[in-house]
Amino acid sequence: MRGGDKPLYLDPSQPIDRRVEDLLARMTLEEKVGQMCQYSGITMEYERMIREGRIGSLLNVFGADETNRIQRIAVEESRLGIPLIFGLDVLHGYKTIFPIPLGLASTWDPDIVRRAASIAAAEAAADGVHWTFAPMVDIARDPRWGRIAEGAGEDPYLGSAMARAYVEGYQGKSLSDPDTIVACPKHYVAYGGAEGGRDYNTVDISERTLREIYLPPFRAAVKAGAGTLMSAFNDLNGIPASANPHTLRTILRGEWGFEGFVVSDWNAIGELITHGIAGNIYEAAEKALKAGVDMDMQGDVYRRALVQLVREGRIPEGLIDDAVRRILKIKFMLGLFDRPYVDPERAKKIIKCREHLEAALEIARKSIVLLKNDGNLLPLSRDLGSIAVIGPLADDHEAPLGPWSCLGDPKDVVTVLEGIKSKVSPKTKVLYAKGCDIEGSSKEGFDEALRAARESEVVIAVVGESRDMSGEAACRAYLDLPGVQEDLLKALHATGTPIVMVLMNGRPLSISWAAENIPAIIEAWFLGVQAGYAIADVIFGDYNPGGKLPVTFPRTVGQVPIYYNHKNTGRPPLPDVKWTSKYLDIPYTPLFPFGHGLSYTRFEYSGLEISPVEVGANDTVKVRFRVRNVGDREGDEVAQLYIRDPVASVTRPVKELKGFKRVTLKPGEEKTIEFTLMLEDLSFLNSEMKRVVEPGEFRVMVGSSSEDIRLTGSFTVKDYVEFPLM
Ligand code: BGC
Repeated sequence: MRGGDKPLYLDPSQPIDRRVEDLLARMTLEEKVGQMCQYSGITMEYERMIREGRIGSLLNVFGADETNRIQRIAVEESRLGIPLIFGLDVLHGYKTIFPIPLGLASTWDPDIVRRAASIAAAEAAADGVHWTFAPMVDIARDPRWGRIAEGAGEDPYLGSAMARAYVEGYQGKSLSDPDTIVACPKHYVAYGGAEGGRDYNTVDISERTLREIYLPPFRAAVKAGAGTLMSAFNDLNGIPASANPHTLRTILRGEWGFEGFVVSDWNAIGELITHGIAGNIYEAAEKALKAGVDMDMQGDVYRRALVQLVREGRIPEGLIDDAVRRILKIKFMLGLFDRPYVDPERAKKIIKCREHLEAALEIARKSIVLLKNDGNLLPLSRDLGSIAVIGPLADDHEAPLGPWSCLGDPKDVVTVLEGIKSKVSPKTKVLYAKGCDIEGSSKEGFDEALRAARESEVVIAVVGESRDMSGEAACRAYLDLPGVQEDLLKALHATGTPIVMVLMNGRPLSISWAAENIPAIIEAWFLGVQAGYAIADVIFGDYNPGGKLPVTFPRTVGQVPIYYNHKNTGRPPLPDVKWTSKYLDIPYTPLFPFGHGLSYTRFEYSGLEISPVEVGANDTVKVRFRVRNVGDREGDEVAQLYIRDPVASVTRPVKELKGFKRVTLKPGEEKTIEFTLMLEDLSFLNSEMKRVVEPGEFRVMVGSSSEDIRLTGSFTVKDYVEFPLM
């Protein structure tokens, strides 16, 4: 097309809504449905369909030249020249790979997460990508579920803070900036509640749990301006999430006023047939569209069904128009009509540039959680005579990329062995032995590993999971170290050489034996391309770790689901009383609690002030206290604020996170931290599902983890207050 008088929709000086309406009025029904279809990759057949205006989006194509080439077909060879929107899973970096999202959440630092997302966006955008299927904001209380690696863990408050940070990072100030991409919070909704921790499985939860636990991060992402959203695979209380009018229409569009578009997860519309709520593609398409799904990812259901459904009068064309409007609007906002192509030179300049790699190092360091450090074994001196670096992950170039590592390249990964070698003094001998594989039963490598351990002053054992043991369709029924890795640890332990354990993993692991017997444990998740340097910095004290767990570590899988913000029950566990809520065979407590993480220095909390202590309907509550570094090195502390509503008309959790702040303190330095609680922050859903605050006492707990509470106080709310639902 093009040529002749320029139609209004191609005039950049016109307001977006007018451009959308002008374009929509020119489109045939087939072209409209085309905008609602997304396919993966590129084929001759897809090129033909693009030319015919029958594809609105592609996923999994990238690269400046390749996207320009395909975009040219859409813009220059289709009748209306509507540009494609290219989507990709850019979760924790594009080519400069950062820690997995569970690791990023361990920073408890939204600024750093925003930075990671904005770098990822800049690299992806330079390579022709407009849209990321991220952030994944599913709350996960079950570490068997492999996708726990992709999110921010178990807590709605921390999860909401992270959700906001990602959206702001990806989308920047304006979608039309060349450095930004549009975000797609996923998977809407409650996908993480899969029964048995098995991916794609049924979710059956109460409306209260839906609204109080699973929805808040989505709400936060939508409030932050997320342009799109992905509907999930799962069955939610009998209605699959991709055909669920309650969550998609009533809540998302009605209560929250979301104006962006909704894309289904991969073939989630087609799978409505398998779920058993549609007999064929026509019923599936009708249900999904009526529920509010605007774009069909890879299902090919909308393409085959929608035109006919409209012609038969089963779907009003207005519904199609609404969906197309929303999709076109995002394309206009991205500036695709005005600047459809990218400059390949830009990609060369910014992807994996020095600044990005430096950021990746800083972000990786901040994501590390020191789980245990008995006798201050860490940090090690870099002048030791000999160090044995042992374990299947010690020199693994793949694992640190983690699941969903986009275009991460193992060649760019610095392993722990490489990181350590780069740090030690010239006289330190570094011995390396793999010991065993990540999985499998062979102990053939044990002898060599034990020899190295005996010859060394310290062992650094790098153990955990492979990168494909978490992420999609990567669930585990056991949460132990896979294969014979624990046996290797036990054998190493028997040599008497002190051991520092470095854990690489995409989920909490039940490492009870190690937690009891290994003096120092570093939780390194999958830290991305700079993993080895970041870990070595922590081992030798060039960086003082300050991350905190965003998720509870169980002692054994039998405790799952286990999370800090549980209810009290009528019989809370008492160790010596049988008829209370616990197990016969293990303690009821977690192995490592939510919010836990140590430092090489110590922090003291003091001076809790709460004001006012009598709170009226229009008041806010200030919670103020001091944190002092009483050790002898600089370090980070994440101060955490929890509240409890001890008596309410419905049961409330024993603790709920309502504020956190990561601060850096020099030795002897003290900072005052202040949190402001709005009354709405204290609200909950009462028995009539109204969002209320009820008068009465609220307890305040301030501490270094959900279990390490240092200061307590309380205030009283005087009035009953009602709020809009969300
Ligand atoms: C996953 C999504 C992802 C999509 C596209 C699906 O299988 O569930 O998280 O965005 O594929 O790659």
